[in-house]
Amino acid sequence: MSDTPVQRFYRVQACLYDCTRWMILHGRRRAAAHLKLRPDSSVLEIGCGTGLNFRYLLEYLDPAAGRLTGVDFSAPMLRRAARRVARHRWPNVELIEADAARLALDRQFDAIFFGYSLTMIPDWTGALARADEHLGPRGTLVVLDFGRFRRWGPLGPLMRGWLRLNHVDTSRPYADGVRKQFERVEVHDWLGGYNFIAVGRKGY
Ligand SMILES: C[S@@+](CC[C@H](N)C(=O)[O-])C[C@H]1O[C@@H](n2cnc3c(N)ncnc32)[C@H](O)[C@@H]1O
Repeated sequence: MSDTPVQRFYRVQACLYDCTRWMILHGRRRAAAHLKLRPDSSVLEIGCGTGLNFRYLLEYLDPAAGRLTGVDFSAPMLRRAARRVARHRWPNVELIEADAARLALDRQFDAIFFGYSLTMIPDWTGALARADEHLGPRGTLVVLDFGRFRRWGPLGPLMRGWLRLNHVDTSRPYADGVRKQFERVEVHDWLGGYNFIAVGRKGY
């Protein structure tokens, strides 16, 4: 199958990603804290990219008991993630190349994280449904992503338009999507709608 526009985008962007995104992608540590990970948790990051969230997730895990799985459909991004894992000698991280909207792994996880990936997935409701299928009983799902810049006045449309050029769609009702699927949901907005963290908990 031919590459999607997002895969083509990351073919070029992969080499620039780590040295540019620190300026705009915030809230990683706060989002990881909402996952309520234990030392023996299994956690899945969907759209893990180059693995910039890994250290915040691994802080909670015992290397011998907890496990982190990163999924992404961009091979160049995953190659960089693999280099990061090797550099840090993280023994409990595995990487899988797969499309979030068609995810079919043979197991469930205690926690699932979308970090700045859901807004780039055209079939985002499908991706959330697949995530739900992969989340075990009493599992937690966290979405960290760009908001709608509600309180940004005239800068709001500019930010949304610029993100759109970068394949990020801020116009869809992501928090409502999480609300539809989970029994208990909290949504935290940051900096006037710059970004949000949506937390869905199963079976509470
Ligand atoms: C903005 S990056 C975020 C990467 C990382 N989570 C972070 O916080 O730095 C978005 C990532 O989502 C991945 N992605 C987008 N759509 C995807 C899909 N349908 N299936 C799997 N990965 C996808 C992209 O390849 C890219 O690596």
